[in-house]
Amino acid sequence: MKNIAVIGSGTMGNGIAHTFAQFGYQVNLIDVNNEALDRAISTIGKNLDRQVTKGTITETDKANTLKNITNFTQIAEGVANADLIVEAATENLELKLKIFKDLDTYAKPEAILASNTSSISITKIASVTSRGDKVIGMHFMNPVPVMKLVEVIRGYATSDETTAIVMDLSTKLSKAPVEVNDYPGFVANRILMPMINEAIYTLYESVAGVEEIDTVMKLGMAHPMGPLQLADFIGLDVCLAILNVLHDGFGNPKYAPCPLLVNMVTAGNKGVKSGEGFYNYA
Ligand code: CAA
Repeated sequence: MKNIAVIGSGTMGNGIAHTFAQFGYQVNLIDVNNEALDRAISTIGKNLDRQVTKGTITETDKANTLKNITNFTQIAEGVANADLIVEAATENLELKLKIFKDLDTYAKPEAILASNTSSISITKIASVTSRGDKVIGMHFMNPVPVMKLVEVIRGYATSDETTAIVMDLSTKLSKAPVEVNDYPGFVANRILMPMINEAIYTLYESVAGVEEIDTVMKLGMAHPMGPLQLADFIGLDVCLAILNVLHDGFGNPKYAPCPLLVNMVTAGNKGVKSGEGFYNYA
């Protein structure tokens, strides 16, 4: 494993590219246009600066990391030499199925195709390829350069060999991989999203205000962020999409998204990325 391609240069994609490049891998970062790629490289530069300021990496490490990343706007070119492709596009089933069909066409036959999906079925994604044994979930957490976990999701057809390679690779990135099976929300979001949804219901039912709810969970449970701040950080649209996957996948009303969350997303309040969520970021 030397050459990695990352599809999508948004928050997760640029964090994944940053992390692989920092650990010496050659990364092809792929997005639909150069503006998105330029923004991603600028974000990676700023996040590397944080690490330099903290003294965890040097200016030379920063320069080498940036040198290891090459931008592409065409999937076919960007994945041609890749040993592993990590897809981190928008959380949309149709889009991911289209990307994986393309990856199956353009990637080397032996390449592993991973998705950073937070809840879409790996088995379903693998079903549009001719290499289900080489399709796997590699779910990084935000902010990727900081968070230790990689949730490694085995689809129905994922082979032991593919799983072993991805577990080993995650360790080489100084992460802690955890192997889980492919059911709605996997483990991380099956547990996290009901907590966030319950926090939103607590607000919706006027049990307490935004800051009070977050303070209870931060100081009472030692969470680094309260659930409403975390929801803003993840993206309220992403939280809603994951809750819908849990609700549809299990058919259990306990996963039904709070009407307040639905209204906020419908109104365009998506959290940090839109400037407004439970908190104001303007
Ligand atoms: N890149 C590199 N370094 C970063 C960074 C980034 N993007 N963001 C923060 N950092 C570093 C800082 O340099 C700092 O380093 P040290 O620990 O060495 O001091 C450290 O992270 C802490 O940063 P800050 O002091 O700015 O802020 P903080 O102490 O409040 O921590 C946080 C920020 C790490 C984000 C912390 O609030 C946290 O852990 N929050 C919870 C994050 C979380 O739960 N993530 C998972 C979300 S769920 C998900 O991603 C999956 C999904 O499917 C929805």
